[in-house]
Amino acid sequence: MREKLVIGNWKMHGTQAQAHELATHARELAAALPNIEIGIAPSFVHLPACLAIATGSDLIVAAQNLAAYGNGAHTGEVSAEMLTDLGVGHVLVGHSERRQRFGEDDAVVATKLEMALEAGLHPVLCLGETLQQREAGATADVVLQQLMAVRERVGVEGLRRTSIAYEPVWAIGTGLTATPEQAQEVHVLIRSAISQHDAIVGGLIRILYGGSVKGSNARQLLAQTDIDGALVGGAALIPEDFAAICHAASQDG
Ligand code: PGA
Repeated sequence: MREKLVIGNWKMHGTQAQAHELATHARELAAALPNIEIGIAPSFVHLPACLAIATGSDLIVAAQNLAAYGNGAHTGEVSAEMLTDLGVGHVLVGHSERRQRFGEDDAVVATKLEMALEAGLHPVLCLGETLQQREAGATADVVLQQLMAVRERVGVEGLRRTSIAYEPVWAIGTGLTATPEQAQEVHVLIRSAISQHDAIVGGLIRILYGGSVKGSNARQLLAQTDIDGALVGGAALIPEDFAAICHAASQDG
């Protein structure tokens, strides 16, 4: 049985006070719902404060990004090594906002994921198609291409230490959510593609759904056989909403 994982991606939001409040709330949720894993992904500047709050609890603290390089002359970047030194255990890789706005292509995403694994971080690989691609019937091709670019680099052994987040780009921050059936269909596709290489890894890898997950739609999404959790953006900034999503995950878990 795959334990459900819910991660709140705060993106570029929040003051120190808000980060403190949200992290404290998430820590309480993690203690109250021991049958699932709960994580937060604050911006880099809020990581140390959030890690301090998470100390001694089961709350996962993830970074939202990492450099495609090791330590060196890369002004403004944050390396995998710096994250592990800080005590961070997880990192989002290839979020669609990074792919679309910061030019991260499949090769860069594969390099970042490799850097994360080499440093002992657990990457959460984000995949997903745009609306145009979905309407053109290219969803499967796009998602599998994004997945294979990474598998070719790190192998199934690398995927064994990775989680995946399927996030249709058209559903991120738009209020549009994939129907549970639409999401389940892509999750099965991803899992089958991995299972073709290694049935054990395919069966064990966690595939989260992301894209306008809220308290009101979480239960139906998380009830799908192959949806193993949620990557939550906007709703993660609203404590009641985040709590409702985590409770939904806990009851189906
Ligand atoms: P959203 O974002 O929940 O605000 O749609 C999800 C994400 O980008 O991870």
